[in-house]
Amino acid sequence: MARWGRGGGLSERTARFVRVGRVGDVPPGRAEVFDVEERKIAVYRLEDGFYAIDDICTHDGGPLAEGEVEGDQVICPRHGARFSIKTGAALTFPAITPVETYPVRVDGEDLLIGISE
Ligand code: FES
Repeated sequence: MARWGRGGGLSERTARFVRVGRVGDVPPGRAEVFDVEERKIAVYRLEDGFYAIDDICTHDGGPLAEGEVEGDQVICPRHGARFSIKTGAALTFPAITPVETYPVRVDGEDLLIGISE
């Protein structure tokens, strides 16, 4: 049975799902980055499922997947802005623009990310 991580930026109904890897590729507590059609998408395993956001900080391009994870937030390693992994919201300065989020689907042991058409 499929399980979903809720992405705020794209509806599961309108997304096209791309198989990116295996569930075991994403350990709890840190992100795994997947290249999906010229995008770098960071996938996180939180207590209630998988979530995916752009790996690029909206402040100055920092690699979010290399940032520390605290609960459902990631801290940009470059200047310390916090983002919600679940909603993509920019929670602290210097970032003010949210990061894109993507729905995640688990199909057996496969991990799929929903992207726009
Ligand atoms: S690049 Fe992420 S906070 Fe500046």
